[in-house]
Amino acid sequence: MEMGFYFYSACCFLIIFSKASNATDTISPSESLTDSMTLVSSDGSFALGFFSPGSSKNRYLGIWYNNIPIQTVVWVANRISPINDSTGVLKIEISGKLVLQVQNTTAVWSTNTTGSVQNPVLQLLDSGNLVVRDENDSNPESYVWQSFDYPSDTSLPGMKIGVDLRTGFNRKLSSWKNWDDPSPGDLTYGVEIEGSPEIVLRKGLEKLSVSGLWNGNGFNGAPNLRSSPIFGYDFVWNENEVYYIYFLKNKSVMSRGVLNETQNARERYTWNAETQTWQLSLILPNGYCDIYGRCGPNGNCDSNKLPACQCLTRFRPKWPERWNSSDYSGGCIHIKPLNCQKGDGFIRIRNVKNPGTTNSWFNKTMNLKECRDKCLRNCSCMAYTNLDVTTGSGCVMWFGDLIDIKQLQSEGQDLYIRVSASETGTALQS
Ligand SMILES: *[C@@H]1O[C@H](CO)[C@@H](O)[C@H](O)[C@H]1NC(C)=O
Ligand SMILES: *[C@@H]1O[C@H](CO)[C@@H](O)[C@H](O)[C@H]1NC(C)=O
Ligand SMILES: *[C@@H]1O[C@H](CO)[C@@H](O)[C@H](O)[C@H]1NC(C)=O
Ligand SMILES: *[C@@H]1O[C@H](CO)[C@@H](O)[C@H](O)[C@H]1NC(C)=O
Ligand SMILES: *[C@@H]1O[C@H](CO)[C@@H](O)[C@H](O)[C@H]1NC(C)=O
Ligand SMILES: *[C@@H]1O[C@H](CO)[C@@H](O)[C@H](O)[C@H]1NC(C)=O
Ligand SMILES: *[C@@H]1O[C@H](CO)[C@@H](O)[C@H](O)[C@H]1NC(C)=O
Ligand SMILES: *[C@@H]1O[C@H](CO)[C@@H](O)[C@H](O)[C@H]1NC(C)=O
Ligand SMILES: *[C@@H]1O[C@H](CO)[C@@H](O)[C@H](O)[C@H]1NC(C)=O
Repeated sequence: MEMGFYFYSACCFLIIFSKASNATDTISPSESLTDSMTLVSSDGSFALGFFSPGSSKNRYLGIWYNNIPIQTVVWVANRISPINDSTGVLKIEISGKLVLQVQNTTAVWSTNTTGSVQNPVLQLLDSGNLVVRDENDSNPESYVWQSFDYPSDTSLPGMKIGVDLRTGFNRKLSSWKNWDDPSPGDLTYGVEIEGSPEIVLRKGLEKLSVSGLWNGNGFNGAPNLRSSPIFGYDFVWNENEVYYIYFLKNKSVMSRGVLNETQNARERYTWNAETQTWQLSLILPNGYCDIYGRCGPNGNCDSNKLPACQCLTRFRPKWPERWNSSDYSGGCIHIKPLNCQKGDGFIRIRNVKNPGTTNSWFNKTMNLKECRDKCLRNCSCMAYTNLDVTTGSGCVMWFGDLIDIKQLQSEGQDLYIRVSASETGTALQS
């Protein structure tokens, strides 16, 4: 977010301080960070200090880009506990706990640290990650606390977005309420694991847009979240963790993902050094068909057609009049009713974004044939596909209505949809 900053009279000192060669990236328990000071990461990329957002006079402890003229905050500590004067002080206790105090006494914010640490130091890393670690141990696995675990509205390269399956700990983004108030708004972005995991953008409880499942190559409905000359992407999904992470192949590029409360979107910005501005490089949802469930149950959103909302092959609108007047909420139903006992089959539809995974089930090792057989035996299984298109292995099944299918052109994945066997005859896929 590009925001005007309210500068205290301390600003001049701050600028001198951060330009001075004795700027430091570390504090230890004998030191503290007051309202007029900043910590600067060793290569000068990021600063930690106190700021006032927008037209607010409140003071927040936060991290921003240090070497660009537009103040861009990427993390806020005391999001819900603003400080109303300049007496804020950040300290690190000998236990490794961080405490943000006002008026010398009241703690408005503090951290929960688990493991213990001999000689704790607080360090702002060049990645923008603020970490508590032992003075002599810089192994990331040993950090006792890190700001990347508590994202605000911004994702940075190297930050995990996802869930620790051992503890249930969930790292997700939440928007600022508005430009003057960094307290959590109602837009969130994180990995959800109800069925096969996917990334979900929510407005309150409502799903705005989902990524589609991870199919080994990328998210099946988000062709943009793929490796490029500038970005690398990874999705880690094992028995311990499920998370999405991106990193920069070119370290001199500055890039951030941010939730935009007013646009109801997740945006990716990249810094343009020539124009000295942030350039929008990616936006989610990206177009009409990116809105979750746009065409209702069993619809297929195809942005190359008019209207974009179509029924899946072998389906018809449930409420034709409403459908014709662009009310797609009723979705579509089978033209020929299913008959599970007498025999159903499947048709293949190509290059689609898979349905939302809320009512799905997966198995990472089953092959496509086993997947089909299992789906066929279960009368409420309505579709199946591979879990991993790179190896052709794995199985995902959907139960009940198929929601959020989107027609893609070359990307996407084939989906096998249950239909009445009598209707389709030889067209059935086995
Ligand atoms: C949200 O989008 C608006 C309009 O594009 C833009 O002016 C504003 O800077 C964005 N806010 C954030 C937090 O990026
Ligand atoms: C500032 O906040 C403190 C608590 O942190 C409160 O006691 C005090 O009344 C507030 N002052 C103003 C002017 O709001
Ligand atoms: C803050 O606390 C320290 C130690 O408890 C004390 O020496 C100092 O005078 C206090 N400062 C203010 C402004 O109250
Ligand atoms: C610390 O833990 C408590 C209780 O689990 C929780 O309410 C609080 O939000 C945590 N604080 C931080 C900064 O994570
Ligand atoms: C940490 O390193 C410093 C200097 O390298 C050394 O003096 C100190 O004993 C070390 N502390 C521990 C706990 O190993
Ligand atoms: C890395 O990015 C910088 C800034 O955009 C550019 O000048 C440079 O050529 C890039 N380097 C590579 C190897 O792509
Ligand atoms: C809906 O539109 C289609 C195509 O224009 C037309 O064939 C059909 O009769 C219409 N149905 C109703 C109920 O209006
Ligand atoms: C997945 O399928 C394999 C057979 O391909 C089976 O051995 C395994 O138990 C299944 N796992 C689950 C969780 O159902
Ligand atoms: C079909 O699958 C659903 C969802 O996993 C399950 O609840 C149900 O028991 C299955 N039915 C049969 C007959 O296997």
